[in-house]
Amino acid sequence: MTNRYAVVLAAGQGTRMKSKLYKVLHPVCGKPMVQHVVDQLNTLNLQELITVVGFGAEKVQDQLGEDSHYVIQEEQLGTGHAVLQAEDILADKEGTTVVVCGDTPLLTGKTLQKLLDQHDEQKAKATILTAHAEDPSGYGRVIRGGNGQVERIVEQKDASEEEQAIQEINTGTYCFDNAALFEALKNVSNDNVQGEYYLPDVIEILKDQAEVISAYQTPDFSESLGVNDRVALSKAEKLMKQRINEQHMRSGVTIVDPEQTYIGPDVKIGQDVVIYPGCVIEGDTQISDDAVVGPHSTITDCHIGKETVVKQSVAANSRIGERVQIGPFAHIRPQSSLGDDVKVGNFVEVKKASFGDGSKASHLSYIGDAEVGSGVNIGCGTITVNYDGQNKHLTTIENDAFIGCNSNLIAPVTVGEGAYVAAGSTINEDVPAEALSIARSRQTNKEGYANKMKSIKKD
Ligand code: UD1
Ligand code: MG
Repeated sequence: MTNRYAVVLAAGQGTRMKSKLYKVLHPVCGKPMVQHVVDQLNTLNLQELITVVGFGAEKVQDQLGEDSHYVIQEEQLGTGHAVLQAEDILADKEGTTVVVCGDTPLLTGKTLQKLLDQHDEQKAKATILTAHAEDPSGYGRVIRGGNGQVERIVEQKDASEEEQAIQEINTGTYCFDNAALFEALKNVSNDNVQGEYYLPDVIEILKDQAEVISAYQTPDFSESLGVNDRVALSKAEKLMKQRINEQHMRSGVTIVDPEQTYIGPDVKIGQDVVIYPGCVIEGDTQISDDAVVGPHSTITDCHIGKETVVKQSVAANSRIGERVQIGPFAHIRPQSSLGDDVKVGNFVEVKKASFGDGSKASHLSYIGDAEVGSGVNIGCGTITVNYDGQNKHLTTIENDAFIGCNSNLIAPVTVGEGAYVAAGSTINEDVPAEALSIARSRQTNKEGYANKMKSIKKD
């Protein structure tokens, strides 16, 4: 089998984005564009993946980590010059090199595979991924000769009026015979309107050497969408959202209003899950069968168990068990873990806390840095007082304890198994198991007080 390599072009400044954020790091459905591209490339059997970085190099490296090798393009002299930066690593290798732009987030591994298959079948030196565009403006146009063979690619800015009318565009994705690519790149000049070394010029150079040039036209234009500005970014978002939502619906998820539902590309959702409008579900999130999410919930990096219901709430980086009820208007902050049959109700904030099975905090509470056992009832308005201004401290509430309404639990503190805390208590010492702790001032009733007030007023 031939060896396969990939080069991802991600060194351009992306001036048309008018952004502090480096272009290829702009997210589409919550994932940076360049990560989409690399994830799709990783479905191919690659020997090596190299990303060409320039502007914001460290940030791209932070994003992709060990998924890639990196080469730096100090000056952005064009896409051809960018590929040349990988010469030291690739030039002496035999095999096929796929070149992809980091700003084409909708490209799929499937299409890349078809491109490679055709390249192999036709024993081509270069195969271009092309597409038919209703509005081709901004893209390079594919110029074919009388026999239908690809002759060259002309950039929008260099194209004659006649050429600009051509609707077959260069998607910016190619595969090349690796040795031929690096040989041809040496002959690319910057004699064009932009004064750049264009990668697509390699096509004409190889053609002039009578090499076989092939083109695979993808039927789905959206795959080739190159994001150069924020208008295209919103188009990419819309198309990606549609693609993801349709996949989930086809595998048994009810999405009540797909236009109003934003699901990240790596989210996994089980059968008969219902998602109501206004949800943003992102990152490494898994939702198990028969759960109900929304309306208006934001879920990031959470695992949610079967039959759990999350209404109008926010949850991040937490594990949530089965048949749990969350919200409306609850906030589950990172590193929390809720067992089965837990309830976290209206206006309850949970942070870095674990709840055992069947425990409940139904209304208006803050439970942070806490270990809550199972079968615990946390009354309305309970606060774990976890922060002394310098350090965070742990509150432990053991199994079957009952915390009365409006209690402050000043950490570090433990409420023992089966213990009761009277409503309105401020607890700053451990409560033994099975005990009742009352920590509030005693009530005093002043009989006849109203009459006394009345008589004062009359005087
Ligand atoms: C490029 C193609 C065009 C194609 C289009 C598809 C060229 C000359 N043109 O145009 O034919 O239709 O993509 O989207 O290749 N980059 C570098 N270093 C550079 C310049 C660019 O790494 O010096 C990277 C950019 O970060 C980007 C990619 O290469 O990810 C493409 O560059 P961009 O400026 O977006 O090219 P387009 O004008 O879109
Ligand atoms: Mg582009």
